[in-house]
Amino acid sequence: MSGGMTKLPVMPARIDRTIDPHELDKAILHMREEERRRIAADLHDGIGQTLSAMQLAVGGLRKLLEDRFTDVEDAIFDYLTERIADAMDEMRRICLDIRPAELDDQGVIHAVSGLCRELSRALTHLDVSLTVRADERDIPLPVKVAIFRILQEACSNACKHARAARVSVLLETDAEGIRLTVADDGVGFATGPARQSRRGYGLGGMRQRAAMTGGSLSVRSQPGKGTQVVAAWPIDQAADAAGPGLTAA
Ligand SMILES: Nc1ncnc2c1ncn2[C@@H]1O[C@H](COP(=O)(O)OP(=O)(O)OP(=O)(O)O)[C@@H](O)[C@H]1O
Ligand SMILES: [Mg+2]
Repeated sequence: MSGGMTKLPVMPARIDRTIDPHELDKAILHMREEERRRIAADLHDGIGQTLSAMQLAVGGLRKLLEDRFTDVEDAIFDYLTERIADAMDEMRRICLDIRPAELDDQGVIHAVSGLCRELSRALTHLDVSLTVRADERDIPLPVKVAIFRILQEACSNACKHARAARVSVLLETDAEGIRLTVADDGVGFATGPARQSRRGYGLGGMRQRAAMTGGSLSVRSQPGKGTQVVAAWPIDQAADAAGPGLTAA
């Protein structure tokens, strides 16, 4: 009897160590996010490549048979070309819209805070500050996805390229709209189309995400003067982004 009583206090401690609900939640979210990323990559590299090949083949066949079409055959070619283009648009949209489950469950402010926290935990030499002057309810879901992805890429660039000491993140909603600013005090770089064409996909991807949700993205940088990425959604466009075209999960 007394042996059983002395063992009792040990139980909760063991349970806490083996299954920390917070750690479990984080692990599940991480796995879901990884799974979504894999699905987007598979879609892009699998179906996307097949559709591109079909588009090329249909275009090639049309060229080959030029002048030898009946009107009906011509209309079929038009139909095929349009349908392939539609499928590619749809696939791109699905890839862009695949989002971390956290955004649905806890909202973008929570997700942005988590990302900043993770960053400063992982890179102790980096001073990451976050200011939020935003109301979650003012941000439509597609814009939340864009904010999260743009922040991920801007932070990844700051870590990979900037050799920065500080990264500051500001998320605001006001009468003008929604704004995300990510600034670092790192080495900076020369912006401009000629320089950017030889670079990676990140900057273009951020621009595309902002544009597809009714916003715009500007990158201000100069060698030695740090980098500032500003994504902005004017209030009307942000409301439009909530339309059915972009809300599918
Ligand atoms: N915060 C930054 N500080 C310094 N240089 C940057 C910063 N952000 C971008 N750059 C420069 O701009 C280039 C293009 O960035 P971009 O994100 O498009 O490509 P990437 O990061 O090289 O590759 P990817 O994003 O495709 O993995 C980078 O290679 C880097 O030279
Ligand atoms: Mg990048």
